[in-house]
Amino acid sequence: MKKRNRLQLDEQGRLKHFLTIEGLNRQLLIDILDTAESLTSISEQSIKKVPLLRGKTIVNLFFEASTRTRTTFELAAKRLSADVLNINIQASATAKGETLLDTLRNLEAMHCDMFVVRHADSGAAHFIAQHAAPHISVINAGDGQHAHPTQAMLDMFTIRREKGEFHRLTVAIVGDIRHSRVARSQIHALSMLGVEDIRIIAPKTLIPTEPDAFGVHVFHDLREGLRDVDVVIMLRLQKERMRGASLPSEHEYFQRYGLTEAKLELAKPDVTVMHPGPINRGVEIDSEVADGPRSVILQQVSHGIAVRMAIMAMAMQQRPPETAEGERR
Ligand code: CP
Repeated sequence: MKKRNRLQLDEQGRLKHFLTIEGLNRQLLIDILDTAESLTSISEQSIKKVPLLRGKTIVNLFFEASTRTRTTFELAAKRLSADVLNINIQASATAKGETLLDTLRNLEAMHCDMFVVRHADSGAAHFIAQHAAPHISVINAGDGQHAHPTQAMLDMFTIRREKGEFHRLTVAIVGDIRHSRVARSQIHALSMLGVEDIRIIAPKTLIPTEPDAFGVHVFHDLREGLRDVDVVIMLRLQKERMRGASLPSEHEYFQRYGLTEAKLELAKPDVTVMHPGPINRGVEIDSEVADGPRSVILQQVSHGIAVRMAIMAMAMQQRPPETAEGERR
């Protein structure tokens, strides 16, 4: 078993921590998508709860800002009947100099079962998983520019819902790929699920230094890269992770790389437009596209609840009855 798998999977190959897509396998990703599919109806019921994680305590540890990820993790945990603690880092003992490990030890002493971690440092979730007590599962909710695997899985869920399958698709990811943990996780997931043509489209300064390692086709011209794509995923400029001036003005960036209805005409007629959020209107995407009929940006947010429910349940070795062993597709 690979080193990364040893941390993420238990001896039976079941999910223990969810830290990165790398090192997982296609069947596990399909299991997550199928489990999420069976959990979507819970959010549409009048009583939005199932008892899968009743008695479990889940801690949201967000050391970096978040709207979508933190709230959908909280909703997902509550819909699974878990108890949820949202630690306000700014108002916690971290602000008084307590180390991360000491904070963890104190939370462990409260008999918590799962940590959901967002951190500005790449590798923070791995570090916590390596040092947490054996009964605790750690879910990476985004670490630095390394990985955002639950975002990638909700994006895969959205693509499967829209397109039905992954083979034969052409998927373009546009924008600040270099600083994007989302793009890294998406590329690994798309590749593992069999997408044949993965394109990244960006100015040279926003392409990763070794794009060949990702097995993608690189484009610097948006119009060229958008030709005949099935899915286009837009990314914002992640200025908080940029060192020095890598860019022209936002106006010039929008002229060259902003997605407009006119540019979208080059894609397939049934193209699906996605964005992990937060969106910057008039910088990477025009409002007409973001709010238009081909956009599934808000559906991505809704799907995030079911996908995070699935990942949390699976990491706690719980499954909804209809996806129990032997009954899965
Ligand atoms: N997509 C995403 O991670 O959004 P938040 O930063 O709001 O969680």
